Amino acid sequence: MCGIVGYVGPGSSIDVLLGGLKRLEYRGYDSAGVAILDESGELATRKRAGKLSVLTDDLQEAPIADGRTGIGHTRWATHGGPTDGNAHPHLGDGGRLALIHNGIIENFAELKQELLDAGEAFESETDTEVAALLVGRAYRETGDLQAALRSVVNRLDGAFTLLVMHRDEPGVVVGARRNSPLVIGLGDGENFLGSDVAAFVEHTRRAMEIGQDQLVAIRPDSVEVTDFAGAPVEAKEFEVAWDASAAEKGGWPSFMKKEISEEPDAVANTLRGRIVDGAVVLPELEPLAGALADIDRIIVIACGTASYAGMLGKYAIEAWARVPVDVELSHEFRYRDPVLTSRTLVVSVSQSGETMDTLMAVKYAREAGARTLSICNAQGATIPRESDAVLYTHAGPEVAVASTKAFVAQATALYLLALHLAEVRGVSTEEQAAERLEELQALPEKLAAVVESSSARIAELAGWMGDTQSVLFLGRHVGYPIALEGALKLKELAYIHAEGFAAGELKHGPIALIEPGQVVFVVVPSPREPSSLHPKVVSNIQEIRARGARVIAIAELGDVAVVPFADEVIRIPLAAPLVEPLLAVVPLHIFGMELAAAKGLDVDQPRNLAKSVTVE
Ligand code: M6R
Repeated sequence: MCGIVGYVGPGSSIDVLLGGLKRLEYRGYDSAGVAILDESGELATRKRAGKLSVLTDDLQEAPIADGRTGIGHTRWATHGGPTDGNAHPHLGDGGRLALIHNGIIENFAELKQELLDAGEAFESETDTEVAALLVGRAYRETGDLQAALRSVVNRLDGAFTLLVMHRDEPGVVVGARRNSPLVIGLGDGENFLGSDVAAFVEHTRRAMEIGQDQLVAIRPDSVEVTDFAGAPVEAKEFEVAWDASAAEKGGWPSFMKKEISEEPDAVANTLRGRIVDGAVVLPELEPLAGALADIDRIIVIACGTASYAGMLGKYAIEAWARVPVDVELSHEFRYRDPVLTSRTLVVSVSQSGETMDTLMAVKYAREAGARTLSICNAQGATIPRESDAVLYTHAGPEVAVASTKAFVAQATALYLLALHLAEVRGVSTEEQAAERLEELQALPEKLAAVVESSSARIAELAGWMGDTQSVLFLGRHVGYPIALEGALKLKELAYIHAEGFAAGELKHGPIALIEPGQVVFVVVPSPREPSSLHPKVVSNIQEIRARGARVIAIAELGDVAVVPFADEVIRIPLAAPLVEPLLAVVPLHIFGMELAAAKGLDVDQPRNLAKSVTVE
């Protein structure tokens, strides 16, 4: 939820921290702050409510001295509103120590009382200040920052990444993590810490994972990782697969626009190297190799957009591999005592790989004996590390809070999984597999065609709808998750009422919402399949049209049957029924973005949200 950066080295700490925070701002953007240890040994902090630009402007107007050790934070408020005082860093040891935090300290109230009883004074309403004061007190006893942080972490319940620095230990930043992300960036004579690699990829692509319940101390020439008991740990090094330019806007008006334009590449890169001689090759699934032929049930767990990708996966896995699949919201999953066995495969889907609800659900499933597979976009994230195997999507960094390219990449990975399962379970013929693979391989080009053909018209439509108060989305079968996705995008970006419905459900209640002028997007299935739902969806369109709805249909090229009943038809190329929704979603992504833009809203950073939801 919050973004964290740490730096030690000869460079300008202020530049490194502000650059890192800029790239992490998608994680939270209601306040930001930095702490720098300057050359004279003074610890200076500056923190401001509002977006990072408020802090940056403030530092420009009234600079603080630069130095070689620093920490920076961009916040998504949990305890205490977004004010200057609640922004991080928080201080301990009489202002000699600065600390930043991502997560929630669940037992902060009792720890706060203990500190108040001991005579400590609080300057904020945050749970974080408890940690700053505790580490400060521990430092006074030990005189050793690592030891001080180590002595405190085991007293904290909940989720946390903590970074701490002390004016008496220049050139050192110490971090600790539990259920919250932290990665190390390895430089030349300088080292970095960040909530994700975006924090430092501008300076180095060499990175290191930090495991659960581990502590790290970075100095310009060394990195030391230990567990919470102090035993050394060998951390795994990896190379960041993308460079800083991939996470830059690069001339686009918004990250979201850029990322929609990258949907074709996201699919192409997720397929790349995984189709060899007409067969799906997924060596990443090796840790599950013995189990996949025997699983009798799959549960997909995910939140938000990722859960809609999971729904698409359900259709594909059931149709192609004939394994029953349930899709559940991660935060509901473990609270209903689900039946899990060693023959259950729990597939988590998460762009960030850090969503706390999903992480907790994965841990729960593992402890209950199920097999776990992570479908994830972010390298070095926690969920893949907590799973038996990981299938990475290769969508590249997704910066806009609203997920777009990650969605099509997640669905693509799930389709590959479906094909692989069909093969290992012997339920598909070579011809079927070849046909399906061909469809997937044709997808990037078709996606590019939709981006190209629909952008201008959708922008026009959105431009006329700046005052619209409500938009509905209808779909059936694989069109249903697309309707849900279209509605979610509109809620989070344009802040208007939007609902997605299974079109067949309309007559069971939602049709009462239709009044003259109500805008309804309808995802129309292809009429070419013999068992197609096309006639039924066209009937649904007629039903709402008869009640005054303004229908915008998303239909395949050449579908003329829909024309008399729609006010507007957005065309998508012909594709197989299971692949078609990935084309239909593009105009809806564009619509959400354009309507938000037409309303003058911040497309990349919608209010109240954060990209990576690392609290439950
Ligand atoms: O990082 P994740 O894929 O686990 O995130 C899941 C959801 O929080 C995310 O998809 C969210 O719904 C997006 N803001 C939707 O655009």
